[in-house]
Amino acid sequence: MIQLLVIGSGGREHALAWKLSQSPRVHRIYVAPGNAGTALEPKLQNVPFSEIAELIEFAQKEHIAITIVGPEVPLAAGIVDAFQAANLKIFGPTQQAARLETSKIFAKEFMLRHNIPTASYQSFNDPVLAHQYIEQKSAPLVIKADGLAAGKGVVVALTNEQAHTAVNTILVEKHLGGAGNEIVIEEFLEGIEVSFIVMTDGKHILPLATSQDHKRLCDNNLGPNTGGMGAYSPTPFVSPDLHAKIIRDIIHPVISGLHAEGINYCGFLYAGLIITPNDQAKVLEFNCRMGDPETQPIMLRLKSDLFQLIEHAIHGTLNKATIDWDRRTALGIVMAAHGYPENPRKNDAITGLSELMQEQANNHDFHIFHSGTHVGEDEHSLLTSGGRVLCVTALGENIKHAQQNAYKLMENIHFPGSQARNDIGAQGIEYQKHTNNLRAESQ
Ligand code: AMP
Ligand code: GLY
Repeated sequence: MIQLLVIGSGGREHALAWKLSQSPRVHRIYVAPGNAGTALEPKLQNVPFSEIAELIEFAQKEHIAITIVGPEVPLAAGIVDAFQAANLKIFGPTQQAARLETSKIFAKEFMLRHNIPTASYQSFNDPVLAHQYIEQKSAPLVIKADGLAAGKGVVVALTNEQAHTAVNTILVEKHLGGAGNEIVIEEFLEGIEVSFIVMTDGKHILPLATSQDHKRLCDNNLGPNTGGMGAYSPTPFVSPDLHAKIIRDIIHPVISGLHAEGINYCGFLYAGLIITPNDQAKVLEFNCRMGDPETQPIMLRLKSDLFQLIEHAIHGTLNKATIDWDRRTALGIVMAAHGYPENPRKNDAITGLSELMQEQANNHDFHIFHSGTHVGEDEHSLLTSGGRVLCVTALGENIKHAQQNAYKLMENIHFPGSQARNDIGAQGIEYQKHTNNLRAESQ
């Protein structure tokens, strides 16, 4: 009897656990701590653990075959090292390998060492030198705290004044605590952002489908930065040519560079890329995990057995794995709580969801993935419990159809103060229109 453990409580973990539950070889998946979505899904069961020691004890007691780590925080805390020391199988990078995400300075120096295209930069711990650098380079500039800062560590400064303020809040006033002991100041890159995620066993690479996230809270990419307000897959911004270039110039050098430095990386690796106007891909950031909400549309399109892929990764045989995708587009819209991202309100009642959750058991063309939700004390009601609440994800023949299907589903779901963007996928739809027109003109 194969039992798995998924660590985390967001939409990403709901989507991963849901996909793993479709493997005929897997009997049960525990999610620690999970949410209302994972509590209600067949084959899934929530367990209320978050400390590494209690997760190890649980995995040993339940003979967990493989543990899969969703978020970066446990990876940064060394959960993989601790599980491996206890002889438990776990999918995710070690603490040292996770530095690609947990230290921006490590990531930038690594990219410089291995000739991986990224924005030019300098790192600072002295505010005086940082202020001088701003005057020398001039805005626009991007100021990044070195450490993990839950999405609050990056300031895109359009004026020198904004850049000086960012240096003061991070480096002098320490608004982000120790995460801001050092900063990176980098060149502002113009272009389109895409998410390029692969699985790796440390030697071999298996690219997942491409996707595009929508980081800002409001339509037309305005408003504050968030964890991500929606995503779709695949994205037309990564052409087959560019895909090959990204593998050759970015992904391969990362994996071989890590290997050469004696760092073994097994897990998902997420490269946040910017595609410049002359079709060059440059790295904005690495994450040592899947993206949220990118995982939701990607998992809805995945036709292969995710458990089998992860087994291959753990055994170092990802070169023997093949991966199949639904040829359609999947698009997910995030519904966020009132006050997100600064101060999300909790315990708003969600209505209209139960009917859809029943319907999706027999209809695989959509799925409502939960993030910040919990089941009320009456054991029937669904309540909000965090910033991003749901990700309404649907398939369609192209981005436009997937978009229409997802927005139509979302009309059924309500909670007070809910926030969602109205333009998820719009940039991709425009681009597709433009490239179709160019093709028509050349024929
Ligand atoms: P990060 O957490 O590094 O992905 O940064 C958060 C967001 O800031 C990214 O999604 C981009 O929109 C923006 N960003 C980061 N670095 C740059 C850069 N060098 N040029 C332009 N925008 C950037
Ligand atoms: N969606 C962006 C991230 O997961 O970091």
